[in-house]
Amino acid sequence: MKIFTITLLAGLSLCANPALAQQAGAPAGNIENGKKHYTTDGCYQCHGTVGNGAALTGPKLANTELPFEAFLMQLRQPSNDMAPYEAKIISDATVADIYAWLQSLPKSPDPKSLPLLTGMGVK
Ligand code: HEC
Repeated sequence: MKIFTITLLAGLSLCANPALAQQAGAPAGNIENGKKHYTTDGCYQCHGTVGNGAALTGPKLANTELPFEAFLMQLRQPSNDMAPYEAKIISDATVADIYAWLQSLPKSPDPKSLPLLTGMGVK
């Protein structure tokens, strides 16, 4: 926990550049490296290729509202079915990169702006 706190504090001090970390409190992450690891480390298999999620396999991760600390905790000690990823498999820094990439993805459109859905009674 002590090492994690130090890492987190080091990350916080790098947060001055908004291009590197969009969410307050998140350590700076390398978006390109995060995108690569999201695929090579297999996250896409359950969470969709662009973090879109799927009902049966894993929740949406794009633009997650989870703070970085909770995101990291889910990898180390998953809340339910997801397999754990230890630090020797994915380092805290790589998790920060994945988080940064997920935060950089475009936001989903407002359902009210989609004619197909408004035609189906979404107001
Ligand atoms: C085998 C399927 C699977 C893989 C692979 C997987 N996950 Fe998950 N993930 C899940 C499931 C299912 C959940 C729902 C909670 C649980 O079961 O622990 C989840 C939950 C999460 C959550 C919490 C989301 C929320 O809003 O509560 C995060 C964050 C997350 N996963 C990140 C990742 C990352 C990053 C990777 C790749 C390193 C990954 N997952 C790989 C299945 C998977």
